[in-house]
Amino acid sequence: MKNKVLLFVSCLFIMTHLSAQLHLSFPEARFKTGDNISWKERTFDDNDWKQVKTSIPWERQGYMNYDGYAWYRIHFFLPKTMLDKSYLKEKLNFYVAKIDDADEVYLNGKLIGKTGTFPSDPEGFVSRWEIPRNYIVNLDDPAVLWDEENVLAIRVYDGESSGGIYADIPTLQIYDLIDGLDIDYTALNDYNESEYHIYLRNKLPQTQSGKLQITVEDTQEGKMLQTITEKIEIAPLKVLDKKIAFPGNTRIKINVTYIDDKTSKFKNKEIISYYILTPPVSDFPKINGPKVYGARPGHPFLFTIAASGIYPMTFEAQGLPKGLKLDRKTGIITGKPEKEGDYKVILTAKNEKGAARGELLIRIGDKIALTPPMGWNSWNCWGLKVDQEKMLQSAHIFKEKGLMHYGWSYINLDGGWQDTRDSKGNMLPNKKFPDMKALGDSIHALGLKFGIYTSPGPRDCAGYLGSYQHEKQDVEIFAKWGVDYLKYDWCYYSEVFDREKDTSTSAYMKPYLLMQKHLRELDRDIVYSLCQYGFDDVWRWGAAIGNSWRTTWDITDTWESMSDIGFNQYPYYSYAGPGHWNDPDMLIVGKVGWGEELRNSRLTPDEQYTHITLWSLLASPLLIGCDLSQLEPFTLSLLTNTEVLDVNQDPLGKQAQRLIKDKNIQIWVKELEDGSKAVGIFNLGNVDEVYDLLFSSLGYPVVNEVRDVWRQTDIPNITSSMRLNLPSHGVSFLRIR
Ligand code: GLA
Repeated sequence: MKNKVLLFVSCLFIMTHLSAQLHLSFPEARFKTGDNISWKERTFDDNDWKQVKTSIPWERQGYMNYDGYAWYRIHFFLPKTMLDKSYLKEKLNFYVAKIDDADEVYLNGKLIGKTGTFPSDPEGFVSRWEIPRNYIVNLDDPAVLWDEENVLAIRVYDGESSGGIYADIPTLQIYDLIDGLDIDYTALNDYNESEYHIYLRNKLPQTQSGKLQITVEDTQEGKMLQTITEKIEIAPLKVLDKKIAFPGNTRIKINVTYIDDKTSKFKNKEIISYYILTPPVSDFPKINGPKVYGARPGHPFLFTIAASGIYPMTFEAQGLPKGLKLDRKTGIITGKPEKEGDYKVILTAKNEKGAARGELLIRIGDKIALTPPMGWNSWNCWGLKVDQEKMLQSAHIFKEKGLMHYGWSYINLDGGWQDTRDSKGNMLPNKKFPDMKALGDSIHALGLKFGIYTSPGPRDCAGYLGSYQHEKQDVEIFAKWGVDYLKYDWCYYSEVFDREKDTSTSAYMKPYLLMQKHLRELDRDIVYSLCQYGFDDVWRWGAAIGNSWRTTWDITDTWESMSDIGFNQYPYYSYAGPGHWNDPDMLIVGKVGWGEELRNSRLTPDEQYTHITLWSLLASPLLIGCDLSQLEPFTLSLLTNTEVLDVNQDPLGKQAQRLIKDKNIQIWVKELEDGSKAVGIFNLGNVDEVYDLLFSSLGYPVVNEVRDVWRQTDIPNITSSMRLNLPSHGVSFLRIR
């Protein structure tokens, strides 16, 4: 896997940075559902096949709900000049992005690679949806046809949910000397200083020699800080480590170019420093978190006052509903509220520096999740490798690193815990979860809440046990374990659905309504998160059933995935509101890996600002998906900016509307409870832009107050317009009045 990731990263790099010019890219292919082995042949006539994009799942291209076999065929001309230009003349790499779920790839009829297995294979179906595919062919292989048309045929089997090639554009690349050299980096930085290590990694069994040029530019001041030009030599399989250090915390652009002596080809990488915009946390107490919280009468209640500042802290809460009590040392409010009603509670947090007050409206009634749920979920980091220890560790880190001081409260276990049923039909966790009840208790003792995952199908997406025909029994067990949140993931419910041959809206609602009924029979508040990727326009009916519904396929840590999902949420804004939210999937900041090797999110720092800004504007549930034990200052700063989180948690519960789409610029506006508006001005293009924002275009002839949300500062002297520097894929986040 490690090599594959490396190859993948270098491929991505090559596509975007035009290095070797020995590559072709394949944004489209011919496509047909079904399966016929003769479709692998070069001479097969596919003229009547549909033309599709190769970077997004087929569901998005007119094949909604299609599970099963399908083929892609890519025709391409391979000029002999490409071979002549290559110094190494050894290998050809076909990068086929990611494929949901299993695939076989043929070059002119010859099998060149396979990932995962098909249902007809002796070992049965195994999905490898998460792995980037790289298939290598020797250049002298007779299957490679120079100066002729070639056909790459990709046979895919999709078990459930989304299907096909996704996450990136497939490419073909001839390996050359330059491709044997990878440029990557590690970063260490906080508010005071930054240290970057640039690694030039020679992957070849021969020495690489060339010229290295590094420029370090402060993009805020427009000042060049450092220029390095030198001749370098890297021994076979060795790494050259270049340290770049600079004081302070600004947006720095490090540009690294390596030109290889023998071929004069170059590789280039641009690194944007992990600049932190969130101001450092003050020692003084400050009450954060939602301003409104809903719970049902007679059910166990758990709410922890979120307060930043130095600890120890003591708390007070005046006006609590009858039946609730506060632990003054921890700020945890528990008990069982007796009567319905709105309770205006005055919260106080005190430490050695002073005291802070805040207001919380506790609404005892029928609705929960009055603001979007905020928490952590195991999937994007641990995937199926999650265990009880890792869950508990995450809960402890919520406390130790102070995430709970900002309102982060759910610790959610995703798939990978389910084993079999005992003779009475009780669902049993696997060995990695020796005691679920103890896990729930420990999470609660910290003042946090416990989430779990299952499927309405016989199995979940990874083939683990689901709740089909055991719905009532399963939720009763969950309630015993102390579960406060349920993610209910469609997955293999497709099998049941297909059997029943009913594609009406009520058929889509059926499994979710059934679980809703059983959840409502419990004496517990359980946030109900529907996960069925947007089938049957779930946003139209999701609010009648659950507290949130996934609107999309799974997110991954690329700009293509995040921006495609996030910026396509605009049609759904009217469906979101207190107690019911559109869910564009979990956050991909920090160290992620889906159970494979953990890596830094491949989103650039600018893209990460865009991601968090957009999810806040969208009033999306916020579920952190990274390994919390490796949380560094930058990621922590993204997740603990109180003014950014306030936009997400605003009590009005409106989702932002996309008001302006002007070439690469998009402006999204979210109405807030106090009459102000949160405005995200995004640059989706590949180059930095200067943009003149006219407030009249947002319906304001003049503005009285403009606040920079990330920096938490007022911007003075603004009346009718404002000039913004928007980095490529970056954002400016304002709150205006
Ligand atoms: C689906 C969901 C993911 C995750 C996995 C678990 O892919 O969309 O969020 O829950 O299943 O198998």
